[in-house]
Amino acid sequence: MKRIDILLVAVFTTGMMLTSCGGGTQPAAEEKTATVAIPADIQAMMPKGEQIYKSKCVVCHQTTGMGIENIFPPLASSDYLLSDKVRAVAQTLNGSKIEMIVNGKKYTQEMTPQVETKEDAVGVINYVLNNFGNKGGYVTLDDVKIVEIKPRTAAPPVR
Ligand code: HEC
Repeated sequence: MKRIDILLVAVFTTGMMLTSCGGGTQPAAEEKTATVAIPADIQAMMPKGEQIYKSKCVVCHQTTGMGIENIFPPLASSDYLLSDKVRAVAQTLNGSKIEMIVNGKKYTQEMTPQVETKEDAVGVINYVLNNFGNKGGYVTLDDVKIVEIKPRTAAPPVR
């Protein structure tokens, strides 16, 4: 088993609050395939998404997005992620503790809630969908209207 020694990454940047809004007349998330151009409001979320990725997700999912086999699932070319973007946003917001098969490998560890707002969750997932070799299209705030932010059982992560 590989050692997880990237806790050195402690880049907590503050500021940079990008606001954005999801358009109401866009195609459903599943239809936004690689060939669809990324709209400007989604592009505008990417820098904050990148910042969130590099300060939080990187610890487990790694700088490459490859994760650690059988412990932290990959976000790069993840069949699981790419098959349901709304679910990915919900998991980033509310955490996940289920058994999942990602690219043929089983994952059972818990991911705690990672972000506090839908804007942050959508921003970081859009970053992930378009990095690490992914051409995964995009997801809008409108797409995730149905996602509920579940009450936190523990204190929110320190920013
Ligand atoms: C402490 C480690 C940890 C951190 C930090 C973390 N994750 Fe995860 N992530 C996991 C684990 C473990 C799972 C599998 C959860 C399960 O089995 O229910 C997972 C699953 C996922 C999945 C679904 C599976 C997949 O590979 O497609 C997505 C999407 C995801 N994480 C996104 C993120 C994003 C975005 C961030 C940063 C905002 C993040 N994670 C931060 C550990 C982590």
